[in-house]
Amino acid sequence: MTAAVFSQTVVRGEDGALSVGGCDVRDLAGEHGTPLYIVDEADMRARACAFRDEFAAAFGRHGAKVDVYYASKAFLSSKVARWMRADDLCMDVASGGELEIALRGGMPAARIGLHGNNKSDAELRRALEVGVGRIIVDSFTEIETLDAIARELGTTAPVLVRVTTGVHAGGHEYIATSHEDQKFGLSLASGAAFEALVACHDATGLDLRGIHTHIGSQILSLDAFQESAERMLGLRAAFRVEVGYDLPEVDLGGGYAIRYTPHGEELTPHDAAHGMAEAVAAAVAKVGGTWPHLSIEPGRAIAGPAGMTLYRVGVIKAVRIEDGGERRYVAVDGGMSDNMRTITYGAEYTATIASRLSEAEPVLSRVVGKHCESGDIVVRDVDLPADTARGDLLAVPATGAYGRVMASNYNAVLRPAVVAVRDGESEVLIRRDTLEDLFGWDVAPD
Ligand code: LLP
Repeated sequence: MTAAVFSQTVVRGEDGALSVGGCDVRDLAGEHGTPLYIVDEADMRARACAFRDEFAAAFGRHGAKVDVYYASKAFLSSKVARWMRADDLCMDVASGGELEIALRGGMPAARIGLHGNNKSDAELRRALEVGVGRIIVDSFTEIETLDAIARELGTTAPVLVRVTTGVHAGGHEYIATSHEDQKFGLSLASGAAFEALVACHDATGLDLRGIHTHIGSQILSLDAFQESAERMLGLRAAFRVEVGYDLPEVDLGGGYAIRYTPHGEELTPHDAAHGMAEAVAAAVAKVGGTWPHLSIEPGRAIAGPAGMTLYRVGVIKAVRIEDGGERRYVAVDGGMSDNMRTITYGAEYTATIASRLSEAEPVLSRVVGKHCESGDIVVRDVDLPADTARGDLLAVPATGAYGRVMASNYNAVLRPAVVAVRDGESEVLIRRDTLEDLFGWDVAPD
């Protein structure tokens, strides 16, 4: 079994079936149907707490404080917000919708940071009305707009300026966010970031709290994080020298890599915390001044490994391939509608038969979905037992982040439920779509 990739409570029982959070996957499939997203609550919360504690320890040695903002775009429901609040995390939201779910889950507004490269007036207004702790401004247009709305409401908006540091990192071009030629942030190299800081500092409706950067996602290289931290501290020092204001806060974003396959690598909270604390310490020593209040925004590294998707195997087909060999296609009852990552980023996953143990020899297989598209692949290459058969349950680990939140109704499929499991109990966090939902959205039937 691909144990290293599954969440911490996953075990194979004596009869060969997997259980997670003390729940047998066959029971979960029976009760909630397939496909099914399963969240191992203990695992997800342990990861959140590991970021909180490792960063507190590593930065605490220097007398510095760090807040962990869970990047809720990775996976969100109001229960998740409740967990994060209980575990003393803050939350990053990237839209009005995420903001409302976070609030619904009881996350105090003061612990929420609002992101987005194109926030609407309504989103900005709502954020100010509920009193979010920080708005990360992403453009000169937004600085002007937010300043005007804040003054109209008779308040001041706490802001961080999103900085593009020029550090190029990340698993795929679409998820690298701090190189110059892209839509996010204000460039450090061109001077736009500095200019934006001055504009925020001067705006009477804005309370300039600091700077933010997010260099990308699924990043393994500590060097990239360190380089980015150094550049951010350099910018902060330059602002102090030229404007005479010590920016109190620096947010270094998320992007910590997780393991998707047994051969994959991860950046652990421990290594990330120590590496980044060292980098910030070195930068502070170099540029002088005080330590800022730091924050980070892990999303995938908290939610990803805690989740798995459970599918039911359907059609199995052997196909002759170019080199004269054969490829076995194992079709499951979901696909690109519940996991967009394979088709979008060429993401790699693994899979295992979850409902039984098989001693049959492994056969190189491709797990595909049920959609009308040949790119509808869930797992490109994986060894599955030769006796894999229609009706078996197949588990794909590490789907907890950017799974359900990116799901679609392509081909009018019903998006799967998300259940949280813990201590032998399961709880539906997000229910499966129903035919009534499909009909409900279809408002002009005649
Ligand atoms: N902070 C900001 C400002 C972000 O934009 C993101 C992710 C994060 C934090 C969290 O990054 P993480 O720790 O989860 O890597 N759909 C893509 C990932 C898009 C990430 C967008 N921003 C995927 O499935 O790989």
